[in-house]
Amino acid sequence: LKQIGIVASESSETSARIILAEGEEQKVKAEDLVRITNRNGNEIIGVLRQGLGFNENLRTGGYHPGVAYARMGGAPSTAKETYDFQVAVIGEIGARSVQQNKMIIAPGSLVEQYEDRDNPMEILAGREGQHWIGHYEGHPRWKIPVNPRYIPYHVGVFGSTGSGKSFLARYILLPLLMDAGYDVLVFDWKGRDYAPHYKENVMPLSDIALDDEVVVSYLTQKMRHFGYSTYARDSNPVVQQLGEFVAGGQWRELEPKEFRRSLEDEMIQGLNPKNVTSGRPAEEVQRFRRGFARLKEEHVRNILGRKKPEDIVKDARKTHIKVIDLSRASTDEKLSIFLTFANHLRDLTERNLDLSLALVIDEAPQYCPFDPKGSAKDTTEMIIDLCALGRTYKLCICLLSQGIAGEIGVNAAVRRNLNTQFVGSIHPLDMMEASNWLSPYAIDTRFLLTLPPGRFYFLGKMNPSPIPLLMTFEIEEA
Ligand SMILES: Nc1ncnc2c1ncn2[C@@H]1O[C@H](COP(=O)(O)OP(=O)(O)OP(=O)(O)O)[C@@H](O)[C@H]1O
Ligand SMILES: [Mg+2]
Repeated sequence: LKQIGIVASESSETSARIILAEGEEQKVKAEDLVRITNRNGNEIIGVLRQGLGFNENLRTGGYHPGVAYARMGGAPSTAKETYDFQVAVIGEIGARSVQQNKMIIAPGSLVEQYEDRDNPMEILAGREGQHWIGHYEGHPRWKIPVNPRYIPYHVGVFGSTGSGKSFLARYILLPLLMDAGYDVLVFDWKGRDYAPHYKENVMPLSDIALDDEVVVSYLTQKMRHFGYSTYARDSNPVVQQLGEFVAGGQWRELEPKEFRRSLEDEMIQGLNPKNVTSGRPAEEVQRFRRGFARLKEEHVRNILGRKKPEDIVKDARKTHIKVIDLSRASTDEKLSIFLTFANHLRDLTERNLDLSLALVIDEAPQYCPFDPKGSAKDTTEMIIDLCALGRTYKLCICLLSQGIAGEIGVNAAVRRNLNTQFVGSIHPLDMMEASNWLSPYAIDTRFLLTLPPGRFYFLGKMNPSPIPLLMTFEIEEA
């Protein structure tokens, strides 16, 4: 520890400003951790934020000799210069842990800065810190303590594109979840962020046994909806016939080539049982044939998977992680695949099983947007349901999103369930929401706009500190 200044006037039990000793302004930075030896009797740990520089001679908005002198190009005097920082109080340092501070911090109390060798994270961890993530920004040795008890209270990761969310998930969250005894299912929307890094444990779309509904919608889409206009797409004789075929289920055992043959025979037989050669049935047969010509074997391969969600969850128990590569499916199919899994998990909870499972959902606004429509309505409701089950069944939902609130964000009802947050550099549209979360802790939202990739404020239940901490982590450069 190194003395850097003293507490200024107008301090309270939750915050204080500190006046830096001469020269310290060149060394002390925002987010540095300090210990205040409170003249009123206790010791307090806090974070420095929102620094201010002040020079009596250089006050703007009026005419003083100092300003006049500076305007003439003279070197400003530093005689009346001071620097101060706000301290966001983390708490009182107790024998075993940090607890809420209730004493007024006395003006004039001594302030010392924690140096690299001190490691104040151990003070924060207290007895609970069996798990550690990343490190405090600027101090690679200060690993940040995590309280794993709150994992099933769900996690939200927010940051604009390129802020490092997927990296955070890969380097920090997945290992943490697995260490804490959770098996992890990752839904990889683009198939780029996770699948290439877990090659052994990737479940491609083509291996997954899809629900009948998903199969029908996939096939119709590949067959260009048989040329029907938008409003007739879902209910027309050809789609109905396709539904019958899929519901029959025999196709699940076939090879792609046989599948195509069987589909062709049964559809034509079904659409035109009497082999009429003119009029309506013939039109539908034609529509089918035109669509069918577009259906390639590689498309068929995608729907012939045999692995049911229950098998995949069982596999995840052995390998502790499974990445579901959704890249080849359309948005609706991705959501249906997610629902298929979620349904299965909900069934498991009905059988009263402890799940110890985490679902990591990147690109969360696709699943639970601000104003859900169509299939997203079902997935949003499902996510809310699963969140509610979390505590009882040890199920963790971990959502990653570019936006926090509003049109770019996550549905408000879902967001309320995420009790631990990581907030990286945000989009200016999210200033309001981020400010609701962070300005009570003296974090300037403009500081948040300029965070470099891979820096996140860690706040909420899992953080033993009641004040958000700025964390980061090392990555292997490609
Ligand atoms: N801890 C880190 N230190 C340094 N650079 C990092 C760190 N984490 C991430 N980055 C850099 O940031 C880039 C973007 O990361 P990432 O793909 O995780 O962003 P993202 O937030 O998931 O973006 P998107 O919303 O577009 O998916 C990475 O390519 C990496 O180079
Ligand atoms: Mg990403």
